[in-house]
Amino acid sequence: MALYALGDLHLSFQADKSMDVFGKVWKRHERKIEKYVNQIVGPEDTLVLTGDHSWGRKLAECREDLAFIEDLPGKKILLRGNHDMFWDAKKTERLNEEFQGRLFFLQNNYAVYKDYALVGTKGFTFEGPFYLDRRGRIIGWDEKQEEQAKKLVDREMTRLRESFRQAEEAGYRKFIMFLHYPPTNILEKTSPFTRIAEEYGAAAVVYSHCHGESRFGDSIRGKYRGVEYILVSGDYLNFHPALVLP
Ligand SMILES: [Fe+2]
Ligand SMILES: [Fe+2]
Repeated sequence: MALYALGDLHLSFQADKSMDVFGKVWKRHERKIEKYVNQIVGPEDTLVLTGDHSWGRKLAECREDLAFIEDLPGKKILLRGNHDMFWDAKKTERLNEEFQGRLFFLQNNYAVYKDYALVGTKGFTFEGPFYLDRRGRIIGWDEKQEEQAKKLVDREMTRLRESFRQAEEAGYRKFIMFLHYPPTNILEKTSPFTRIAEEYGAAAVVYSHCHGESRFGDSIRGKYRGVEYILVSGDYLNFHPALVLP
């Protein structure tokens, strides 16, 4: 029994959106997902998929993508990504009713792995635009967009707090925290997300969203202030699920 995570499957069985243009790693990537997840994850394991599941804009356009995820081994837990238009956060309960026993949608609730509560939300982080000097050093950024980002961070923090609160109320004291967005951006050493992870003593923060060599280092990776930070973007892992807990 083990807990695995993988993010950003970006499936498009029904949408006309090929990922091939994003580089070799994305070539027939759905076949890689199928192959490596089946090699690594067993039927007793849990697999958290950290968002950006599907290019479909509504549920009817995601059916085949979600069926593909359902067919993967293990207990599947899904987090919202910025591209998951089919998933209205306020209608998560409805999704959980419809997919009961097949997929679990993690939003304003929590899941369980052994004695750990799996908590999470999409998260958010300001991604620029940043203004650079000739040497590529940051000399400024779009402050209007930064203001807007702060509001989105607040909203996501409310959702994340609710997830932690429910898990704690149910008696859980050990936590793994999942985000779609990285917990910090390239300007930050800490953020509300790293602080809440420390506050609850989360064993790990698992996130994805960062694509391409130049973005993999945008946020924290490895042990930092007592918390393990794990990047699980599909292209970063060449679509091999990462082991979070044995
Ligand atoms: Fe993505
Ligand atoms: Fe994303």
